[in-house]
Amino acid sequence: MSIEEDLKEVKDLCELCQNCALGATRTNIVFSGGVPNHKLMLIGEAPGYNEDMQGEPFVGKAGQLLDKIFESVGLSRKRDIYICNTLKCRPPNNRDPLPEEKEACRAFLDAQLEILKPRIILLCGKVALTSMLNTNQGITKLRGQWFEGPYDSVMMPIFHPSYLLRNESHEKGSPKWLMWQDIKEVKRVYDSL
Ligand code: URA
Repeated sequence: MSIEEDLKEVKDLCELCQNCALGATRTNIVFSGGVPNHKLMLIGEAPGYNEDMQGEPFVGKAGQLLDKIFESVGLSRKRDIYICNTLKCRPPNNRDPLPEEKEACRAFLDAQLEILKPRIILLCGKVALTSMLNTNQGITKLRGQWFEGPYDSVMMPIFHPSYLLRNESHEKGSPKWLMWQDIKEVKRVYDSL
């Protein structure tokens, strides 16, 4: 079977999932977006209102900013990036995912990682960071650094675009400026693969 077929099989299972209470409140599962490019995968937090309605990750304001950030280094979700979330269903009122929800959803994320075996994994925000790295250090401390990931990958924590939306400044040292440094480093490694 091809990677696309394998991913489709897991997505079909996810559509039926009732492993946690979010199964009862979701409109749609949000399994993945972008393309199954094995070079680059981004893991976000969880679907919000727009994502739940459309069944697509990062389609709201934060997603539009994320697209712009990637486009600034010539990467596009239509061609280069596989996008998914720690949770496949929306937590009510966009609250943080509960530990039992992350636990219940983990097998889907693990299956996506195992099938795609991405070379670069971006951990977008603190929820993805704590799901993939065993640490109690925060995103501000760890962003921009490379860590060893599963299947011979490298992982980099990056700021979540929602955080960047709350921080207007572009000045040197600001969150937006730091994101710009990080994404240029990601592109450098992407091009070397
Ligand atoms: N925030 C996320 O982390 N993921 C989405 O899909 C949308 C917003």
